[in-house]
Amino acid sequence: MTIPATDATTIQLIDVENAHVARNYAPLPVVVARAEGAWVTDVEGKRYLDLLSAYSAVNFGHRHPALVAAATEQLGRVTLTSRAFHNDQLGPFADALAALCGKDLVLPMNTGAEAVETGIKVARAWAYRVKGVAADTAEIVVAGGNFHGRTTTIVGFSDDPQAREGFGPFAPGFVTVPFGDAAAIDAAITPATAAVLIEPIQGEAGVIVPPDGYLRAVREICDRHGVLMIADEIQSGLGRVGTTFACDREGVVPDVYLLGKALGGGIVPLSAVVADEAVLGVLRPGEHGSTFGGNPLACAVGRQVVDMLASGEFQTRAAALGEHLATRLDSLIGHGVTAVRTAGLWAGVDIDPAVGTGREVAERLLGRGVLVKDTHGQTVRIAPPLVVRATELDWAVEQLRVVLAG
Ligand SMILES: Cc1ncc(COP(=O)(O)O)c(C=O)c1O
Repeated sequence: MTIPATDATTIQLIDVENAHVARNYAPLPVVVARAEGAWVTDVEGKRYLDLLSAYSAVNFGHRHPALVAAATEQLGRVTLTSRAFHNDQLGPFADALAALCGKDLVLPMNTGAEAVETGIKVARAWAYRVKGVAADTAEIVVAGGNFHGRTTTIVGFSDDPQAREGFGPFAPGFVTVPFGDAAAIDAAITPATAAVLIEPIQGEAGVIVPPDGYLRAVREICDRHGVLMIADEIQSGLGRVGTTFACDREGVVPDVYLLGKALGGGIVPLSAVVADEAVLGVLRPGEHGSTFGGNPLACAVGRQVVDMLASGEFQTRAAALGEHLATRLDSLIGHGVTAVRTAGLWAGVDIDPAVGTGREVAERLLGRGVLVKDTHGQTVRIAPPLVVRATELDWAVEQLRVVLAG
């Protein structure tokens, strides 16, 4: 049951939304009107510490001044040209992002799901045109518990009933193996395999960190079989885990990076597929595209994002604050928490069912000025903006301690 909102403006705005917006989400009863840094303010003027960061799309904090400046400057020039013409922002953005990833080429899209769909198309085209797989037989190995977005192809290879039931029939060509089990990937690969597609750390599943050495093993298996390693870093990438990419934690470079969320600085949707010429070069004009993909506004913001990541400052901050947060969250184990998983400034906190569900804990935290989101029933996911202060994290964990104590 959702706790009722009490303020008249809040109630009215939630009612209007419920009356006219499809109910594909069940938001917590807070109506955000403004935000800055790690804090949001609702229509009643109440402030909340944001520990979700729009699922890591707001890694740099709300309205980071350098990102707002880049967007504002570009708004005064040109915002959309389509790819029918060149624009003066796409090239410099792609150049900077390719350098950050150590790759040759960037294919810009908008949402994460589009980047994943694009990665699937590129892998299949590579399999047919480079590897020599027979037409329309290519397979992609994916991991159980995955979350790669909401399109019909993508939910077709999800094993979450809520994501897929009622939406079939689904596209063939995907083989699922358990996450974290490299030997299972090895066994699943056939001569028709184009790629292995994994999240280096599974976010939606509850911040599931695979065993040490898993990513290195996947890299070795892909190399041995001549199969592309595709890393979906849409949620795990761009500073969140204390390194630029979650793959960096094991010193692994995938063949294809899928990026999104924080790439748009929390201002515009911006995603990208990043790979070398030998892979992304398989696409020919007219085979793939997007009206908004590569638009100058998004590229101007994206270039600023890449600039901010290039200094390493946000990664270092995420690593240090992540350790700080992990120590404090670990102290809750046995006090309403059954397990904590962390990677940089990202945590999955499993709530003891005796205390309540993840949703109930999120609702009680809302009442104490902290925004979090539950996932898969008993887990609360914590992903603060990387600009958050250690003292703010301490305060938030204290609120969680109080909530758990009932
Ligand atoms: C790992 C991963 N891939 C893809 C997506 C889909 O991104 P979008 O919601 O922008 O389509 C998400 C979104 O949560 C994600 O976490």
